[in-house]
Amino acid sequence: MKILVTGGAGYIGSHTCKVLARHGFEPVVYDNLSRGNRWAARFGMFELGDIGDAARVRSVLEKYRPSALIHFAAYAYVGESVASPLLYYRNNIGETASLLQTLIDSEPTPVVFSSSCATYGVPSQLPISEDHPQQPINPYGYSKLVVERMLRDIDVAHGLRSVSLRYFNAAGADPEAEIGEAHEPETHLIPLVLAAARDATAIKVFGNDYDTADGTCIRDYVHVLDIADAHVRALKYLIDGGTTCAVNLANERGYSVLEVVATAERVTGKSIRIELMPRRPGDPAVLIGALEKARTLLGWKPERSGLEVQIRDAWKWMMRES
Ligand SMILES: NC(=O)c1ccc[n+]([C@@H]2O[C@H](COP(=O)([O-])OP(=O)(O)OC[C@H]3O[C@@H](n4cnc5c(N)ncnc54)[C@H](O)[C@@H]3O)[C@@H](O)[C@H]2O)c1
Repeated sequence: MKILVTGGAGYIGSHTCKVLARHGFEPVVYDNLSRGNRWAARFGMFELGDIGDAARVRSVLEKYRPSALIHFAAYAYVGESVASPLLYYRNNIGETASLLQTLIDSEPTPVVFSSSCATYGVPSQLPISEDHPQQPINPYGYSKLVVERMLRDIDVAHGLRSVSLRYFNAAGADPEAEIGEAHEPETHLIPLVLAAARDATAIKVFGNDYDTADGTCIRDYVHVLDIADAHVRALKYLIDGGTTCAVNLANERGYSVLEVVATAERVTGKSIRIELMPRRPGDPAVLIGALEKARTLLGWKPERSGLEVQIRDAWKWMMRES
């Protein structure tokens, strides 16, 4: 069964393609390589193209006749979205609207969509469950919320079913180190901490006066392979006739920035210097997601999401890459 994977040359998309192939699906990566890597699209077929290029998308749909779409393609830097909001509104919302229109016009198939915990904004209760109010505090989070809404509306109008997976912080890498995280620039904490260990540089810690045990921010890290596995489950849910919904992918367990640094020191055997910086605006103290819905609806639970495992796999990848 062929699955069209937009953004499949990126970090989470490439790991998902590996897991899809392992489950007997045939991934077809569709990516413009604006932020991804051609070498990462190594599991299944590859088609170069932009999701907003309707003619190109149509020809790829006609060529492969996929049974479902997994839609990763987007820009995903919160800071960049604040500095250049229209870039995000155009790529994440406008181009997605074009992609979905082309899908509806040619070959309406179920959709699994990469949403984000950034759609919740500042939490009013923890852990954050799916019915928590969605009040994003940056254009990136808002762009994901609009697409979730778009997908719900499309179901009503055209009967196109979808699952929006709201990831918390994806981390780790393929344990076989065939692929891993390779963002340029990198903004995620774990690869930045590991790069500081590798290069003997300092890691910037933004604020140590939050209302947490050690004063640094707490985030919920989920292994990228667990996220990939959830996509396969969401796909099967939709193929079996499941209805449109949104589901958190979270570990329901948070780690502070300093816990990440201490664990990275243990894993790498290196000491890591910290450079204390002021708080960044818009960083909530704690983000932890509830995982009950993913467990009951998709039968999913994180298997590799202990912090040490995630950091070990990311370090193995970084050592192989450098
Ligand atoms: N990494 C995380 O922790 C995280 C958390 C929540 C949600 N997400 C979402 O998951 C998805 C994947 O994240 P990632 O970390 O793998 O990002 P990534 O940047 O590594 O991958 C995104 C891919 O999409 C491609 N792309 C972007 N715009 C495109 C377009 N117009 N046409 C075709 N291809 C295009 C890029 O070239 C890239 O390969 C994104 O939608 C992101 O917003 C990621």
